[in-house]
Amino acid sequence: MVSLTADLSPLRPDRNLAMELVRATEAAAIRAVPFIGRGAKEAADGAAVDAMRAFLGTVAFQGRVVIGEGEKDNAPMLFNGEEVGTGTGPACDIAVDPIDGTSLTAAGRQNALSVIAVSDRGSMLDASSVFYMDKLVTGPAGVGVVDIRLPIGENIRKLAGALGKPVDEIVVSVLNRPRHEKLIQEIRDAGAGTRLMSDGDVAGGINAARHAARTDMCVGVGGSPEGIVTACAIKALGGHIQGRLWPRDDEERQRGIDAGLDMDKVYEADDLVRGDNTIFVATGVTDGQLVAGVRREGGYIYTESVVLRGASGTLRRIASEHLVSKWL
Ligand code: FBP
Repeated sequence: MVSLTADLSPLRPDRNLAMELVRATEAAAIRAVPFIGRGAKEAADGAAVDAMRAFLGTVAFQGRVVIGEGEKDNAPMLFNGEEVGTGTGPACDIAVDPIDGTSLTAAGRQNALSVIAVSDRGSMLDASSVFYMDKLVTGPAGVGVVDIRLPIGENIRKLAGALGKPVDEIVVSVLNRPRHEKLIQEIRDAGAGTRLMSDGDVAGGINAARHAARTDMCVGVGGSPEGIVTACAIKALGGHIQGRLWPRDDEERQRGIDAGLDMDKVYEADDLVRGDNTIFVATGVTDGQLVAGVRREGGYIYTESVVLRGASGTLRRIASEHLVSKWL
């Protein structure tokens, strides 16, 4: 329940910060426009990173990047540990993904998002030393029902029971990768349908957890950073998320252990990000189920964004019209 006497201390991320952060994801999406469908994924990402970083610099908070562009692209900006914001206001952890779905963007395919997630300082898991995480995401019906340790078929049956619908109406999204060949077969053998995603499991996870979503579950191995970011959104949706790190080799496993991570642990929502004081904002780069992609038409650029706040359990949509002349 939302308390009317909620902590409004300026030292914690608050609702105003949520609205400020949208400006940064909007800017990243807008700057990506010239690269959408142009086959230039690095250029798209670079433009989005620059724009997001510039806007974050104007936001009144003390953000420490826990999940950044980091090692992924050898990015010199928005790296893990970088301080962002004006240096005044609430002390926060911040995860950035200027474009989740750089390949989708380059190809002009659906579901690319520009994303920021913020939580109280010290509350986000730093899983950057292990690239991949196995994840299980559902909406509220799955809470206390599904478990990543169980075979997928059992989770499907349990979720179907909790949702009160037949198994053959369950739809599971999963990244279309050779590593998921067996998983995809098992989902189909259980009687459920699959939605194979070419990329973008942040959108995939959120779509599975949303009220009246068209998918019921999102499973499989995707980026670890994406898992943390998704967890920030799931807190606002009341859904279920679990993650298990998925090191690619012994060297990565050891790097993770040295960083204090547990390779056998099932990370629950609260281990991925502690508490409910989370903010997740995303602006569409390309069209998707969650939001429409950024679009330029004549003298205007149109963006659609969502703002999810864990503390209040809200998902808000923001449709903006931007004058092109201000962005030249
Ligand atoms: P990028 O935007 O960094 O390319 O990430 C896209 C993405 O599909 C994520 O959504 C997902 O978690 C990850 O890549 C999966 O990694 P891989 O493509 O190596 O399977």
